[in-house]
Amino acid sequence: MKSKALINLLSDGDVHSGEFLAAQLGVSRTAVWKQIRRAMDEGVKIETIRGRGYQLLSSVDLLDREAILAAVDNGYHSALSLVVLDEVDSTNAEVLRQVADGVSGVPVAIADCQTAGRGRRGRVWSSPRGQNLYLSIGLTFHGGFSVLDGLSLVLGVAVANALETLGASDIGLKWPNDIFLPSGKLGGILIELQGELQEGVVQVIAGIGINVHMAEAEEVDQPWSSLGNASPGINWSRNAIAGNIITAVLDAAHQFSENGFRDFHAPWQRRDIFAGMPLEARNGELHGTGEGIDEAGNYLLRTEQGIVPVRAGEISLRVVQ
Ligand code: BTN
Repeated sequence: MKSKALINLLSDGDVHSGEFLAAQLGVSRTAVWKQIRRAMDEGVKIETIRGRGYQLLSSVDLLDREAILAAVDNGYHSALSLVVLDEVDSTNAEVLRQVADGVSGVPVAIADCQTAGRGRRGRVWSSPRGQNLYLSIGLTFHGGFSVLDGLSLVLGVAVANALETLGASDIGLKWPNDIFLPSGKLGGILIELQGELQEGVVQVIAGIGINVHMAEAEEVDQPWSSLGNASPGINWSRNAIAGNIITAVLDAAHQFSENGFRDFHAPWQRRDIFAGMPLEARNGELHGTGEGIDEAGNYLLRTEQGIVPVRAGEISLRVVQ
């Protein structure tokens, strides 16, 4: 947000004169007015009170690098290369660029909005300014692509844990790693691979999108929810959510590298929203009932022929209507 410093000054909710704001920001009163207009165009509710000044009418949840770091476990601070951007095409693309540029440390990119947010299966990820969390993190694994089996489920568990720590309840997982609330999709994870940089070294870009304050979204074509809609009593902070997710993802990545998928099997299974549901897979060729996951993270269907595992690379599972 271009007018971030101005919004910060207004964030106490008091009325502030144009003169005061201009002096604090070191700009003219006309420049203050332009910034107010721009913020209002971006959806910030500000009242102009004739003869007195400006007042912020709704709370604004601004991204702040220091506040994000304050929510990250101290042990990870020195390893992180964290950028917080006003606007970017896609935070996944940003982390890919950082990796290509030889960034040192764990690259993390967070943006206030994305102009080309990408979802799984080539879909667009709706990324309105100021409302949701758009976060990508670069993770390095040793042992070739085969170590990645189960990783997408592991990341779903990590994100669910982080949100529950902050007070969210009823977080479900839709195989392999969509984040759900009973009222609809809350978030998603897009995993992109950089390839084997050297023998056996795999660079993964994990892009995480969580609906935080979003109250309307015309272009989203499936039932969705947001933390604010589901738990309006909690003062959701994108900085706190980001910091907790970064910590949970790094903890989970270490645990997964050490022990594989086994520690994540039960935490994934108890959040399975498909359990006991009538499902179809492989373009409708396979029908059965949701039976949870196996030890490698494949989804199990109870069919007339017995239990059939569905691999993550296969056609997506869907509930039979
Ligand atoms: C899905 O389709 O469910 C996955 C959505 C992933 C969206 C996130 S937002 C941050 C990161 N940047 C992107 O362009 N996509 C991911």
